[in-house]
Amino acid sequence: MRIIVTGGAGFIGSNFLTLFTPRYPEHLFINVDKLTYAANLFSVQDVACLPNYRFEQVDIADQAAVDRLFRKYEPDLVVHFAAESHVDRSIHGPADFIRTNVMGTFHLLEACRATWGQRRDVLFHHVSTDEVYGSLASGAFTENSRYDPSSPYAASKAASDHLVRAYYKTFGVPVKITNCSNNYGPRQFPEKLIPFMLLCALEGKPLPLYGNGLNVRDWLYVEDHCEAIWTVIERGKVGETYNIGGNSEKTNLEVVQTICRLLAEETGRPEGEFVRLITFVPDRPGHDLRYAMDTSKIRYELGWSPRENFLSGLRKTIRWYLHNHTWVEQVKTGEYQRWVQTHYEGRGESGATTELVGQKRGVG
Ligand code: NAD
Ligand code: TYD
Repeated sequence: MRIIVTGGAGFIGSNFLTLFTPRYPEHLFINVDKLTYAANLFSVQDVACLPNYRFEQVDIADQAAVDRLFRKYEPDLVVHFAAESHVDRSIHGPADFIRTNVMGTFHLLEACRATWGQRRDVLFHHVSTDEVYGSLASGAFTENSRYDPSSPYAASKAASDHLVRAYYKTFGVPVKITNCSNNYGPRQFPEKLIPFMLLCALEGKPLPLYGNGLNVRDWLYVEDHCEAIWTVIERGKVGETYNIGGNSEKTNLEVVQTICRLLAEETGRPEGEFVRLITFVPDRPGHDLRYAMDTSKIRYELGWSPRENFLSGLRKTIRWYLHNHTWVEQVKTGEYQRWVQTHYEGRGESGATTELVGQKRGVG
């Protein structure tokens, strides 16, 4: 197969490529990424030299560029990760979320539709989020839960999910959708809770918990998410949606306390040195209280289940950040963007370093 992986220089996409490019040398993996602030080509350096890997710097919000890409590669499969993915940024500036998440998905679907029926089917696998379902009082989200997004990010992903289903129902474009809970693991940009907190803790900076810290997320190790996506690609039914999650609900306070404990174990420094940095800050507007996924469908129909539990996955993650000093420093200093500009003449937005992310909240 020729597989277009959009957003392959981001967190989940780079883990997907790192796992599957070497595992499936018979497939060609084309990493299609605009290289925004969230992209990091160092994250795919383990696979960049493989003969079945290609990179194309393309903005999916540009229909002509997407069409050229489809003509060049004639893909059999599109695995669509590319998105603006950070809720806080969507509150400060929603426009890019509509452009990439809604229009970008629309352009890819149009390219699939144009190809469909002429040559052969292009399967469109849409990677989405549990946030489309909104906040949960009790129980867990199923694939039939009502859409009720709260943030501009969640609303843009909900819109893209609806478009994907519409292209299946109206035009017969073969699609599959997965909605997944919060991911964590290696190569996650340190604006998201887990890498942000662990890097701040190591530097002795405040650990800002929004509100009372009791909001609940269902955490999944990123490689388990990637394996679930591959399972759905191989064995899922066309036109269907599958929920993916870790059955690992934690309050944000529990997550940060566990980071402090594991950091103490891994570094030999006293736990109290990290715990005393926990600081409660004003809540995020529209902050969903709880997400939880019912994963019965993918477990019983397709036989997928996660390999890592929260403790084992978090320990792996912490070790990765401790041992990948160069990656961390390149992100903190902005070097990861300069490298991109030198090698690919990218036009990434500069300055999205950990330092600035912290300063934005007044905690830097
Ligand atoms: P990320 O922000 O780390 O990476 C996104 C990638 O998309 C970046 O490399 C970026 O350069 C690229 N991109 C952005 N706009 C683009 C455009 N216009 N054209 C081409 N490329 C563009 O995101 P992530 O955390 O890896 O998430 C990947 C996908 O998984 C997203 O669709 C997200 O909604 C979904 N998801 C994420 C999580 C999570 O916890 N991170 C959970 C469930 C679902
Ligand atoms: P985040 O990683 O932004 O993912 P999402 O908003 O998509 O779930 O945040 C996870 C949770 O952590 C969410 O409830 C917001 C909270 N949070 C904080 O309390 N402080 C922070 O500095 C960040 C980044 C997140």
